[in-house]
Amino acid sequence: MSSDNKNNSRGSSAPLYAPLEGRVILLGVSGGIAVFKAAGYARNLVRLGARVITVMTANAQNFVTPLTFAALTCQRVHTDTFDDMDAHTIPHISLAREADLMLLLPATANIIAKAANGLADDLLSTLYLAFSGPAVFCPAMNPLMYSHAATRDNMAALLSRGHTVVDAGFGDTACGEKGQGRLAEWEDVREAVIKALTPQNLHGLRVLVTAGPTRESLDPVRFFSNRSSGKMGYAVAGEAMRRGGRVTLVTGPCSLQPPPGVNVINVVSAAEMADAVEKQAIEADIIIMSAAVADYSPAEKSDIKIKKGMDTVTLTMKKTRDILSSVLEKRRPGQIITGFCAETGDLEAKAMEKLERKPVDLLVANDVTEHGAGFDVDTNRVLLIDRDHNQEKLPLLSKEEVAVRILNRIEGFLR
Ligand SMILES: Cc1cc2nc3c(=O)[nH]c(=O)nc-3n(C[C@H](O)[C@H](O)[C@H](O)COP(=O)(O)O)c2cc1C
Repeated sequence: MSSDNKNNSRGSSAPLYAPLEGRVILLGVSGGIAVFKAAGYARNLVRLGARVITVMTANAQNFVTPLTFAALTCQRVHTDTFDDMDAHTIPHISLAREADLMLLLPATANIIAKAANGLADDLLSTLYLAFSGPAVFCPAMNPLMYSHAATRDNMAALLSRGHTVVDAGFGDTACGEKGQGRLAEWEDVREAVIKALTPQNLHGLRVLVTAGPTRESLDPVRFFSNRSSGKMGYAVAGEAMRRGGRVTLVTGPCSLQPPPGVNVINVVSAAEMADAVEKQAIEADIIIMSAAVADYSPAEKSDIKIKKGMDTVTLTMKKTRDILSSVLEKRRPGQIITGFCAETGDLEAKAMEKLERKPVDLLVANDVTEHGAGFDVDTNRVLLIDRDHNQEKLPLLSKEEVAVRILNRIEGFLR
């Protein structure tokens, strides 16, 4: 996934992706050793556009002071049910009314138990009962506490209520034991928060996404490839996950972390990509083909390294299988297919010509020579053309935002 930094990878002030813009998150911090990590996560949420209002339990304040959260979120931190009480303001009611989502991070075994059983003996647990929106629990504790039947039952109760419980990670814990109990990584928390705030319009639908370049071997050392980073396809896969899709990502070699929860199929060559896509496409409801697949591959591949000797070398390349065409030929009724088209100049005419040859539901075209729209950048400037030839030229956007726009259009075909 791309970084949450406000600048793009080149340090320029590219358009931001702020999926939590205008959202208010109640951050409930309870007393575990991972409180120090929660401070960094709070800052990351602010970077994604959220207003973060922190509520700390008395025990959480033994680990980090409220001042840390106040400074990182630029908001007052709340700690007591009876603070700021007057005839007009009851803190746990007014905070609960203000928030879009409640994030319990870290969630101790104690707050999980209190929430599961409806206890309300401090501000945070009272707020949980007074809040009717989505709640995301991020447990962090000693592995024995985490695996205890009482904690498992309590987490199951929260899940059955429709809340999100982000699994704790495995590894070394602060108490010196190895096992499951570490606070989940930021990427997992971020995805859980955004998903909990996103309408689940793709719920239960199978979404197949292709991404990245392919590599065509010449010999054991050398290969032909292209400049695709995979960022666009990974962003599309992530956005489809957030909307509740069951996402399979067929990816060529990329250095990116796949979005949490995505079923990843790694391939290398165009032939491997074609095999994997043809197999997965049978079941898919939505297919989004953003990979930059090689059009040609060396006709002969040497098993040993080709020696340097001749001044010039002539290679014969043969055409690879056209994956989009084969998916279109075998298309099931109702299947929604999106193709991509990377061009160098004369974008509109070339895109329309491709749409004639390959009648996809949506074509995403970009001119890779345009500033900010080429390979390996965090932004893109695309032209969307739908099956009725309606065109929409999007401004320069982050790739995550382009993914949002693409999925919005795809959702429009489902109605
Ligand atoms: C050094 C130390 C570290 C602790 N770490 C955790 C932890 O990671 N997770 C947890 O559930 N409890 C942990 N506890 C125990 C909780 O602080 C204790 O259960 C407390 O009652 C939690 O209160 P709260 O949920 O109201 O914040 C820790 C206690 C100490 C002394």
